Amino acid sequence: MGELSYNLRDKVFVVTGGSRGIGLEITKLLLKEKAKVVICGRKQDGLDAAVSNLDAGDSIFAVSAHIAKADDVDNLFDKTMEKYGKLDGLINNVGMNIVTSLIDAEPSLWQKIIDSNLTGTFLCSRKAGQIMREQKSGKIVSISSIAGRRSAPAMGIYGVAKAGVEMMTKVLAQELAPFNIQVNAVAPSMVKTKFSEPFWSNKDIHEQIVKAIPLGRIADPIDVAHPTLFLCSEASDFITGQTILVDGGSSAV
Ligand SMILES: NC(=O)c1ccc[n+]([C@@H]2O[C@H](COP(=O)([O-])OP(=O)(O)OC[C@H]3O[C@@H](n4cnc5c(N)ncnc54)[C@H](OP(=O)(O)O)[C@@H]3O)[C@@H](O)[C@H]2O)c1
Repeated sequence: MGELSYNLRDKVFVVTGGSRGIGLEITKLLLKEKAKVVICGRKQDGLDAAVSNLDAGDSIFAVSAHIAKADDVDNLFDKTMEKYGKLDGLINNVGMNIVTSLIDAEPSLWQKIIDSNLTGTFLCSRKAGQIMREQKSGKIVSISSIAGRRSAPAMGIYGVAKAGVEMMTKVLAQELAPFNIQVNAVAPSMVKTKFSEPFWSNKDIHEQIVKAIPLGRIADPIDVAHPTLFLCSEASDFITGQTILVDGGSSAV
């Protein structure tokens, strides 16, 4: 990709789950644009490694937080405001799945998947929305999944949670529009990260997945990071309540 500018210099973003995978790629792109970034994750060693590798000085810092815990989320945004004094964007990137059929899932597993994908998105959006409402500007972008659109056996709880993320995106877009805040989502198909490694690292499964993708490959994290940055930038100021599918054309078939 050539020199594309999203005009994000000195804007402040929180990226949840910024220590690896898609969140780390979004963080890299934001830093390249000279934005300030606060990343969170549960494990301090993952955060430390990311901050050290990114080598971005005062433009990045990490807060250890479990996004489904309200106190952790409050602390994440309090620290962000203490450090940078404003919040221009939130990327709700955290997500996880454990493969199970719905009827065999224990209620505790249901709760864990819903908490990480949906409750955490609510808690972070709520807190960020309150700050942005005062500022009368802001961008919220959530990383959903095509699993929220297309039912897949064994991905049921995850799919329900991501469908919830899409509906939350529409509701928040309406609630926050009067305050000049845009709320959107990006829904990828398979992306080459640790999360999906059990699938893409298996030659037969990988071949089968790629067959259903017109562009003939699975996504790389950067394929998700670029549309996310577009939705964080003034180039998308008249877009809200939308979900962009980043699926290599598979939903067009
Ligand atoms: N990869 C795919 O194929 C794919 C496809 C469609 C959608 N997505 C979505 O894209 C997003 C990112 O996925 P990814 O593939 O980049 O995942 P990943 O490689 O597993 O990275 C997940 C990140 O989130 C953090 N995290 C996980 N649970 C957390 C929690 N409860 N609180 C705070 N941080 C937490 C992890 O750090 P810690 O472990 O230290 O907490 C890590 O930084 C997710 O929403 C996922 O559903 C992924």
